[in-house]
Amino acid sequence: MSHNTIAINRRMDKFDSHDSVWLFGYGSLIFKADFPFLDRRPAAIRGWARRFWQGSHDHRGTETAPGRVVTLVPEAGAHCDGMAYLVTPEEFAHLDYREKNGYLRLATDMHFDDGASAEGIVYIATHENAAYLGPAPERDIARQIALARGPSGPNAEYLLHLAQALRDMGKVDAHVFEIERHLAAFGIKSGIKPAKPPAPA
Ligand code: SIN
Repeated sequence: MSHNTIAINRRMDKFDSHDSVWLFGYGSLIFKADFPFLDRRPAAIRGWARRFWQGSHDHRGTETAPGRVVTLVPEAGAHCDGMAYLVTPEEFAHLDYREKNGYLRLATDMHFDDGASAEGIVYIATHENAAYLGPAPERDIARQIALARGPSGPNAEYLLHLAQALRDMGKVDAHVFEIERHLAAFGIKSGIKPAKPPAPA
């Protein structure tokens, strides 16, 4: 089920001659930045919706019991909030390895919270990749996430970290928060503290 995209992504050389490139993260790249960056800014991309429709056989699940992680699916009028990182082109060797289970680099415009915008890269796993699982009711997605675990840890941790990171940025994602609610109903709750304490009432 593993669909290694490293070789395809290496051929994407659009930004190779640039000193720095904006990378848009909307999943684990929001809450786990394990690479050096020059700048980091909340941002959004338009025309895409975040969905737990991609299988994870290498990080948050296994070949026989895949977990579910996020990808982006095209949706007219939608936007996806995330975090943009300014990185040097050399960082993409590590990023291609990290995102190798089906994600392809795509050039995209991203819009920062202050109204500015930039072109950069986002990793998207399309429905054509072998690890793609596709849509399912949020409750079924939560059940699969509750049971899955891989080399990077429990699948639920991925979801709970993502939900908390979005809240820390003041962003709402109905799909993510609904899966989080189902997980809570199964008794799986976040022990993660908000990055910033809520402002006094
Ligand atoms: C991303 O975070 O931008 C891609 C999906 C992931 O690595 O979780």
